Amino acid sequence: MKRRNLLTASAAMAVALGQHSQLAFAQGNGAADKPAQQTGPIPMRRLNNGVEMPMLGFGAYRVIDNAVAIMETALRSGYRLVDTAAYYGNEQQLGEAIVRSEVPRAELFISTKLWIADYGYDEALRAFDASLEKLGLDYVDMYLLHYPTPRYFESTVAAYRAMERLLKEGRIRAIGVSNFEVEHLRRLSEQTEVVPAINQIELHPYFSRQAQREAHSSLDIATQAWSPIGGIFINHPRTPGQIVRVLEDPALDHIAAKYGKTPAQVVLRWHLQNGVIVIPKTNHAYRMKQNLAVFDFELDAADLRAINDLNRDLRGGGNPETFDMDYMRERARRS
Ligand SMILES: NC(=O)c1ccc[n+]([C@@H]2O[C@H](COP(=O)([O-])OP(=O)(O)OC[C@H]3O[C@@H](n4cnc5c(N)ncnc54)[C@H](OP(=O)(O)O)[C@@H]3O)[C@@H](O)[C@H]2O)c1
Repeated sequence: MKRRNLLTASAAMAVALGQHSQLAFAQGNGAADKPAQQTGPIPMRRLNNGVEMPMLGFGAYRVIDNAVAIMETALRSGYRLVDTAAYYGNEQQLGEAIVRSEVPRAELFISTKLWIADYGYDEALRAFDASLEKLGLDYVDMYLLHYPTPRYFESTVAAYRAMERLLKEGRIRAIGVSNFEVEHLRRLSEQTEVVPAINQIELHPYFSRQAQREAHSSLDIATQAWSPIGGIFINHPRTPGQIVRVLEDPALDHIAAKYGKTPAQVVLRWHLQNGVIVIPKTNHAYRMKQNLAVFDFELDAADLRAINDLNRDLRGGGNPETFDMDYMRERARRS
């Protein structure tokens, strides 16, 4: 389990795409916002403990109103990985959606996260039980530390040790982290046994983080992109009224037209060709299908470079150095 030598991110993706090239795919869906055809099974990524994880899943942050119906629709549309978190407040609704969808449990890959208020060993064990109960499951496929909280790192480490225990007990199939910078990964590795299977980080064309992704590859940690199409800037605009719309970048429009795809599909494809696991969120059934229809085309090297060149090192989410309960309390006080 510890530090096994496995495929690099790009090699894993090549394997996944290679398997797919043998399948008959539906054709491209044409212009933006038209319903898309589903394009067959989603490629899997083999994680550093041998567990296989879908390369594309459904993100459940801010899926609140109508959450059961939306997540049931996602499952019925073909999503098998769902990314939720205790903090999102919809684990129970996801559990209900799973039951209603009638998708067999073994086909699903359910990922949830431990919230920072529950860091510490015993706290983490209790919070995990609560998540599992809400989900109505007897195991989860992936459990993540939501943020590194470096100012309280002993409790972060204690929480991760609790996750290692749950992994050993078979109540979690793989454990990982989220929002860890390379330095946080280093500190964690000094005090724990299991190399995180993934690091879920903010990643989109305006924040493409090549050095961080390379560090993950060298550590056998898979990279998963949150806000893969830039949703963070819409959910939490940095300046009220000034929303950054990544998908409206003219360069993406140009590339999308070339392939008969939408900007969202092109961005998801860029991630996948970089070996990055993606979890786009949408409340709309036609976009769920559109976001799945990304396995029937391939961006050429020039287009991959053009998207790399959009990087502005523009972070939309919380700063991992200071994102902890002190920060949350201060944020609540100010609002
Ligand atoms: N670990 C963390 O700290 C963290 C932080 C944030 C997010 N996440 C995870 O990452 C997931 C995805 O991130 P996100 O929800 O912030 O942003 P995202 O998936 O990048 O973008 C979602 C936004 O894009 C819109 N959208 C979806 N598909 C589209 C399409 N095909 N064309 C045009 N617009 C489209 C959605 O609108 P509609 O819903 O109206 O369609 C929504 O406003 C989350 O749901 C969550 O699971 C994790």
